[in-house]
Amino acid sequence: MDHEHRQLVATVNALYDAMLEGRGMSLVDSTFNDIVDHAVAHFQHEEKLMRETAYPDYAAHKRQHDQLMAEIVKLQRSFEAGESIFSTRVLQFLADWLTVHIKTDDKALGGYLAARP
Ligand SMILES: [Fe+2]
Repeated sequence: MDHEHRQLVATVNALYDAMLEGRGMSLVDSTFNDIVDHAVAHFQHEEKLMRETAYPDYAAHKRQHDQLMAEIVKLQRSFEAGESIFSTRVLQFLADWLTVHIKTDDKALGGYLAARP
């Protein structure tokens, strides 16, 4: 899980770099798609673990994942509609969300998994 977290954070950083360096929109687009792919894979992995271990906070944790995915889908639609969505505000939102989620929700899940007999 920590490996997946690092990859997610790394993809957000890569997107930030691509934007700052003014690289082409196609690269920004593919980097954004990387984030979506990593997020989906990571969320599915965590949700499977939570179900398998009957994690008591499953519903609340899954709701957070679903909310972020809904935001990401909205961003993707705007991007596909030709709107410029890649502002530092969007990146800050992604980075903040990940930081808070990893430090609180995923940490709680990690503690639960580690404490299992
Ligand atoms: Fe999570």
